[in-house]
Amino acid sequence: MKKYIAFISATIIVLGVMLYSTKNEYIFKIFGTSSVEENSEKQEKDSKDSNKEGGVLKNISGIFNKYVKDDSEDKGESPSAEIEEENDNNSEDKYKYSQGILLVNRKNKLDKDFIPKELVVPKVKFKSSADPLVKKMEKEAAEALERMFNAAREEGITLLGVSGYRSYKIQESVYNNKVKKSGKSYADKYVAQPGTSEHQSGLSMDMVSTEHTALDTAFENTKAFKWLDANAHKYGFILRYPKGKEKVTGYNYEPWHYRYVGVNASEEIKNYGITLEEYMEN
Ligand code: DAL
Ligand code: ZN
Repeated sequence: MKKYIAFISATIIVLGVMLYSTKNEYIFKIFGTSSVEENSEKQEKDSKDSNKEGGVLKNISGIFNKYVKDDSEDKGESPSAEIEEENDNNSEDKYKYSQGILLVNRKNKLDKDFIPKELVVPKVKFKSSADPLVKKMEKEAAEALERMFNAAREEGITLLGVSGYRSYKIQESVYNNKVKKSGKSYADKYVAQPGTSEHQSGLSMDMVSTEHTALDTAFENTKAFKWLDANAHKYGFILRYPKGKEKVTGYNYEPWHYRYVGVNASEEIKNYGITLEEYMEN
């Protein structure tokens, strides 16, 4: 009988201890979870606020915030595995991004699911055959493009948009079609492989004009090209693949492909006669 009472008492004590620790763990979990949620909500809010504050530079870091969380807030004593995993990523590691400018080329790729933060169709004229799926640009770049096209128009030049943002999938089909049509070695000189095209950044636009609507090197002989050469930098755009810089950019001369980098960078790139690669490496 004594043994029986001792056994019952021991069982009650053990059950009591188990109940107490389970409850604590549960309480810990509740607090742990809600603080994680608060942090991610705050990060999302901070990201939105910072995007409001200014410029394409902030917009681009907003893009990164979509994929990568800042770890500065997560200083809890027992961070969950989930948080640690998120913190392993770092935007500087993921993309080549310096002074607010994103570099995309053969070496500096974008993820398959990289999508610019705010894509809009610029209110400009497009070539009649332009595919509606590739007319968009990142908002700030689109607005700068509108200013540039309007300024050209005032001087009697009608620029036409041809191709802006291209998703990874669309770039894949552009590339594959070019390979089928012209062979891989020719395609690689003019069309970026999916994930390596800055068209996926939403910051580039291919353009021609009413006097010359083909995307070919003869565009350089037009008034429109001369106007762009003299003025594009005033609106934050650079000729991305200039003649004579093929080894640096990795692509043949493309007088039709312009990239938005913001006015500070475009003025410097123009003044020094350098490429985006050279600008970002110096
Ligand atoms: N034509 C440029 C290199 C591109 O496809 O992104
Ligand atoms: Zn292009």
